[in-house]
Amino acid sequence: MTKIDKFPETFLWGGSTSANQIEGAWNQDGKGVSVADVQLFKNPKTLAELNNVKGNTDINDEMIDVALKSDSDYDYPKRHGIDFYHHYKEDIALFAEMGFKAYRFSIAWSRIFPNGDDKQVNEKGLLFYEQVIDECLKYDIQPIITLSHYEIPLNLCTKYNGWFDRRTIDIFMNYVKTVITAFGAKVHYWLTFNEIDSILRHPFMTGGLIENRFTKDEFPTVLYQAMHNQLVASALATKFIHENNSENKVGCMTTKLTYYPFSSKPSDVLATQKKMRQVYAFADIQVFGEYPAYLLSKFKNEQINVKMSENDLKVLKENTVDFVSFSYYQTSCVAADDTNLELTSGNTTVGVKNPYLPSSEWGWQIDPTGLRISLVDLYDRYRKPLMIVENGLGAKDKINSNRNIHDKYRIDYLKEHVKAMYAAIHEDGVDLMGYTSWGPIDLLSNSTIQMSKRYGFIYVDLNDDGTGTYKRYRKDSFYWYKDVIESNGSCILN
Ligand code: BG6
Repeated sequence: MTKIDKFPETFLWGGSTSANQIEGAWNQDGKGVSVADVQLFKNPKTLAELNNVKGNTDINDEMIDVALKSDSDYDYPKRHGIDFYHHYKEDIALFAEMGFKAYRFSIAWSRIFPNGDDKQVNEKGLLFYEQVIDECLKYDIQPIITLSHYEIPLNLCTKYNGWFDRRTIDIFMNYVKTVITAFGAKVHYWLTFNEIDSILRHPFMTGGLIENRFTKDEFPTVLYQAMHNQLVASALATKFIHENNSENKVGCMTTKLTYYPFSSKPSDVLATQKKMRQVYAFADIQVFGEYPAYLLSKFKNEQINVKMSENDLKVLKENTVDFVSFSYYQTSCVAADDTNLELTSGNTTVGVKNPYLPSSEWGWQIDPTGLRISLVDLYDRYRKPLMIVENGLGAKDKINSNRNIHDKYRIDYLKEHVKAMYAAIHEDGVDLMGYTSWGPIDLLSNSTIQMSKRYGFIYVDLNDDGTGTYKRYRKDSFYWYKDVIESNGSCILN
């Protein structure tokens, strides 16, 4: 038997970004304020501060008032991003130079409807995305668009309590209909909500919920009601996208947190299983169209009173997704009792440290085999094509006097993950449509809003304090990824 040493011919190699982490121009050409524009930079330094996801992302009404009065780019770095808004042609040309087949990006809702509930669309916002899409298509790069990636208009949070209010579903659908009507003929891959499960970890960024407005007791119901409303909105968006163009594919987007039992003690295994059911619950609803038993029992046992109508359940059932996309960065462990065990951070999570794995400078444990395990788990569970829409290594890069960036550590990380993907496709029979690595160009990190946590193949001359020229430079990994795409993976498989 001849060994296949390539990825499938149609494999979508590319990169992935979000509007709020790259665009900047936060108040230009009619854009309104989003949750990202009031996210305060806390300049975390120690591992404990970096791990403090809640502390880094928490917000209250008072902080919002302060933010709205401030014109500081240092305190609110997402306002400047990497200025993709004015550099998109140059950036997409660099993606094309690497041979990208796909580019996943998101649309900032508040660029289209500045307050969310406006009657009038902001035409300049639509025009910007049309130009970005056309620029991609010029190079045969397939756009993969996320409709909502931590960019809910701030007005919807302060006026409606974000996704807790059912009216937000209609408001969102107005935005979706506008965008899909404009771009449904050109863009064939759509994701509804980025990491929809992350509402449990950062309720403000994902759900637009300002926690100080609710009592501690009522908050769990608020949270899960917002989750339910968002899931209904996701199903309605899926319906509209399919009706608009039956050829177009819609994916859910989930954070693939993968946990291992810390030991073979049955209590550790049980605790891990419980955690994994929580991880899968959201995609379960988007793929199977039904709430999993795990969540329904949780609602009952913890008196979480989510209002869901018969029609909601019908909408969920009838409008399931075509493929499953996910982010994957790391794995960690679970123990029934983690007292005295070393904890470490992950993708906006904290877990028990795995003694067998190395960690990034941010404490995220590096585990390419975990990617293969995740691919197999997801494929066996859902039997839908998969797409890895985020993966990468956040690291500090050094640029030398010749403007070179030798990022061997990033190449090593990515190489092992690509090999794991290949094994999952060829040995485990997984249907994997594509791979868009996170942050192909350096961008602001989401959890810590740092520029110094770099993921890119392209270096952006910008520092945490906002100083820098915004010039772009190719890193060693740029040339490496170009070879990978050009050879369809075979350069690292042989
Ligand atoms: C994912 C998000 O959770 O992780 C991205 O979808 C984010 O927006 C990425 O940037 C990496 O996390 P961080 O905190 O390193 O930027």
